[in-house]
Amino acid sequence: MVETIRKSTLEERKRWIKEAKYNLFQLKSEQVFIDLLTDSGTGAMSDKQWSAIMLGDESYAGASSYFKMKEAIRDITGFNYFLPTHQGRAAENVLFSVLVKEGNIVPGNSHFDTTKGHIEFRKAFAVDCTIDDAFDTTCCHPFKGNVDLTKLEDVLKESGNKVPFIIMTLTNNSAGGQPVSMENLRLVRQIADKYGKIIVYDSARFAENAYFIKIREEKYKDSSIRDIALEMFSYADVMTMSSKKDALVNIGGFIGMRDEKLFKECSVFNIMFEGYITYGGLAGRDMNAIAQGLYEGTDFDYLDTRIKQVEYLGNRLLEFGIPIQQPIGGHAVFVDAKRFLPGIKQEEFQAQTLAIQLYLEAGIRGVEIGALLADRDPLTHINRYPKLEFLRLAIPRRVYTNNHMDVVAVALKNVFDRRKEIKRGVKIISEAPIMRHFTVELDLA
Ligand code: F0G
Repeated sequence: MVETIRKSTLEERKRWIKEAKYNLFQLKSEQVFIDLLTDSGTGAMSDKQWSAIMLGDESYAGASSYFKMKEAIRDITGFNYFLPTHQGRAAENVLFSVLVKEGNIVPGNSHFDTTKGHIEFRKAFAVDCTIDDAFDTTCCHPFKGNVDLTKLEDVLKESGNKVPFIIMTLTNNSAGGQPVSMENLRLVRQIADKYGKIIVYDSARFAENAYFIKIREEKYKDSSIRDIALEMFSYADVMTMSSKKDALVNIGGFIGMRDEKLFKECSVFNIMFEGYITYGGLAGRDMNAIAQGLYEGTDFDYLDTRIKQVEYLGNRLLEFGIPIQQPIGGHAVFVDAKRFLPGIKQEEFQAQTLAIQLYLEAGIRGVEIGALLADRDPLTHINRYPKLEFLRLAIPRRVYTNNHMDVVAVALKNVFDRRKEIKRGVKIISEAPIMRHFTVELDLA
């Protein structure tokens, strides 16, 4: 599918971003020239996916599309039980309704914002056990998504009775689209077994994770992506999936499980929140597109082209001396806003300031992964300042060319060249109590 993109003038962008209360989520898509807000649901579907859509079975119960999706999930992940949901956070909502209780502690590697939101909404706590190397953007650890095993074991030793499960996010989005190694997944399994805990994978970008294992973990260089994915999932008990990423569709998600009892418990909530267990908020045609997308998303040549495009943008930025998280991640380039804009205080939201500047420069929309996204502490209501302030430039799948990447790189270089003139950050005018970044209203500080 080809879509039109629109140019605009600086005067227009100044007006639009002010009207949007300096929140890029509030812009209209036609006010954006190149949209790198997210790689979620923004990809282009293939000829085979569009033809699968035409064959969607829209029966309420027991549709053939449901069974196609079930077969693809079993093939690629090994999970026998599954529940369709309308997207990833819906899968979290259903699963956590069964597993998370008030006062629980959920350790993992940089929980995604909706994951943390669903934990904190249930008055439980997310504990980030990501390795320290992930927080130094200049250090080139090949698997910055890894969990620090000592940090994880300390949580289990101190409060094991409050831990319903360990969650592993593949790839680790918030740390920069960084992969988790197979070795780390295996060792986390050993620790989980030692303490009798189950493991949940937040699998939105599991195929990109498998690609990095193949490229960076010597033992897997001759393995296929599918074999790697199967081994990865063999160390998990449950998976949640946002199909909007590595299943290459515009909407959809699911929960994969091995345990029949858990499946039955989740089914109750699925029916309440999502829909009957054989469609879960999806049309039959959506389930067909997901089934096909799971196969395409785990194709090596596709992954190689995709991840090399992200790398292309990252390398162009590095040539200009722009500080980014290294190594370059799977779905996005993460610009280190603290090093880019040292003159702006963290209280004035450096990464958001940079996102606004890039939009003003060329109509390019990225997203803040920093203090706005981090929300306030649920108990003290004090702003949480994360170790890293990122402007994330997420690349939609199968959409843009490297010419678009060149435009992005040069636009950001222009901002970099005038970075010393950027003296004002932003301040919050109004905000929601949880996941505030989507709707927050800002003004110039
Ligand atoms: N888990 C991870 C790691 C994610 O990146 C996302 C979504 C979700 C869960 C939730 O899935 O959007 O289908 O409900 N990430 C998008 C992003 C929104 O821009 O990174 P969803």
